[in-house]
Amino acid sequence: MTNLAAPAVAHGRLAGLDDIVGIGRDARRGGYSRHVWQGAELELRAWFMERAAGLGLDVEVDRNGNLWAWWGARGADAVVVGSHLDSVPGGGEFDGPLGVVSALDAIAMLQVEGFVPSRPCAVIVFAEEEGSRFGVACLGSRLMTGAISADRARSLVDADGVSFAEAADANGVSSRHLGVDRDAMRRIGLFIELHVEQGRGLIDLDSPLAVASSILAHGRWRFDFAGEGNHAGATRMRDRRDPMVAAARAIVAIREAAAARADDRATVGRMEAVPGGTNVIPSRVSVWLDARSQEDSDIRALVGEITERATEAATAEDCFVTVTEESWSGRVSFDTALRDRLVAGLGGVPVLPTGAGHDAGVLASRVPTAMVFVRNPSGVSHSPEEHATLDDCIAGVRALEGILRGLL
Ligand code: GLV
Ligand code: MN
Ligand code: MN
Repeated sequence: MTNLAAPAVAHGRLAGLDDIVGIGRDARRGGYSRHVWQGAELELRAWFMERAAGLGLDVEVDRNGNLWAWWGARGADAVVVGSHLDSVPGGGEFDGPLGVVSALDAIAMLQVEGFVPSRPCAVIVFAEEEGSRFGVACLGSRLMTGAISADRARSLVDADGVSFAEAADANGVSSRHLGVDRDAMRRIGLFIELHVEQGRGLIDLDSPLAVASSILAHGRWRFDFAGEGNHAGATRMRDRRDPMVAAARAIVAIREAAAARADDRATVGRMEAVPGGTNVIPSRVSVWLDARSQEDSDIRALVGEITERATEAATAEDCFVTVTEESWSGRVSFDTALRDRLVAGLGGVPVLPTGAGHDAGVLASRVPTAMVFVRNPSGVSHSPEEHATLDDCIAGVRALEGILRGLL
């Protein structure tokens, strides 16, 4: 493989990442908050369109708000590469943008080398990958593939009560046309997502890169604990029906249930008390559970046990609990032929499973799909501490360039 060109670098990082380093910084949480169709994410979309146009790529927004940048003519059997630009609240710099920047840089390098693709190729930016605004992760890819119905997506609401349908309409994506995109799916021959690694896998393997083998089964559930709102001073302890206490007992039970199982993961990263006053016993507390397991049946068993224990916790406080499944993603095993091809092309890099969800996981059941991971020396992600060194980022771009050269 000849590497004549090199990715552009500015201030010690890939120039593309440097371009967007100031967009969506979150002064309160640290890191970045870039949520779909809000200020920072809109700026990132504009940056992507400009950068893609600068490379002579033809940009379009699809019916679900995903961005496509075509290198050459659009067509069937395309090699599609990309990731996302949105973030979790207070997220890191690399989760998502590294894959988008690397895809554009790989194409830029091939262009400098005079490479002419003999197959359609596009860079894609998926909308609402993290689900940070509307609650369902990978919403753009789920809609495109039909993994979520348009009606369900339209009815999702953000923290301010704005529906996904309203947000789509306000951003030039007609909510009437949301939903499975058969034209787009017909065009994708295969999909490759480069992503910063989100755990310690590549630190332990002492390797800058890996190719993904699988993604844990995972899902999100909302537990709504209902009690009796009342006065913090005037209500005797024995007279209370406090859903905060029920929720607290349930959260401890969640931790215990997951820890007792071999490789299960359960997280409560978000809760909301209504009405939410210091001197008010809440009338309702919602707790969001993110649970992940090796197999679909493991996670069903885990969530079953958690539901029982949450019900016991509610009963102990004379409260009620209702449980709503907000999203579900079965275990993903990536296409082995494509995986092996990438591993061989990259000189035998390791193969690594991941516990993180990705749009690549959604696409994997529809088209051959692969992921390339770039080492994260902090071993931390969904946090400002997430990191990737410039050398490893460059290795990722070079890897993607070689992969594209081989596939196009
Ligand atoms: C996305 O990064 C997820 O794993 O939730
Ligand atoms: Mn993420
Ligand atoms: Mn991601």
